[in-house]
Amino acid sequence: PRFWPILPAAGVGSRMQADRPKQYLPLQGRLLIDHTLQVMLSYPRFAQLVLVLSPADPYWPSSDYAGDARIIRADGGSERCHSVLNGLVALDGLAAADDWVVVHDVARPCLRHSDLDKLLGNLADPGAILASPVRDTMKRGRVDNGQVVIDHTVEREQLWHALTPQVFRFAQLRQALQTCLAQGLTVTDEASALEQLGLTPQLVEGRADNIKVTRPEDLALASLFLTQS
Ligand code: C5P
Repeated sequence: PRFWPILPAAGVGSRMQADRPKQYLPLQGRLLIDHTLQVMLSYPRFAQLVLVLSPADPYWPSSDYAGDARIIRADGGSERCHSVLNGLVALDGLAAADDWVVVHDVARPCLRHSDLDKLLGNLADPGAILASPVRDTMKRGRVDNGQVVIDHTVEREQLWHALTPQVFRFAQLRQALQTCLAQGLTVTDEASALEQLGLTPQLVEGRADNIKVTRPEDLALASLFLTQS
């Protein structure tokens, strides 16, 4: 089976409070999106990838990779899961049912090839995601008299941060996402869609520096991580 990266990049990134979507902010002398594309396009197992962009995206032409023939464009949807589904639809006729799709947030530019090796090296059905163990003490909060108070401490031993890439079979992920969306279920990552079907994807420990650039301060962290080897 082949590997097909799908990169959702159709978000507006409102939490960045910037004048443009975060994937187009400058980072170490390039656009953020170009770092992510560089990691994916230079990985030997990936020949082509699907990039999901907002249909009216005025910034993409300024990317170093605009016009790159290895990139298949798809249109973004209202939420991330719709964007990913559109990306899967763009692979119809190209991907085989048992090919693997490798969904990776374009907002995670610090992904390393070593983590891709780890994730793809021992793949088995139904698939796997990169994740990192929770290190902080976790609290469940609740609102009490208009204030948020601690309801209880959540045991962190088995808690993980779900990262990307997340890797699943083309046909199975498509089926799972379609089923969830048809039932009105919100899924914030691909694994959740498979979990809804009762499947148990594997957690593969990845590097904690594979952060999703979300808030303004994340850009400085990503910049630092990119300069480290
Ligand atoms: O908003 P958040 O950072 O969680 O988004 C994760 C990824 O999903 C980003 O790369 C973003 O561009 C993408 N996304 C998308 N379509 C949406 C919302 C988010 O492709 N409707």
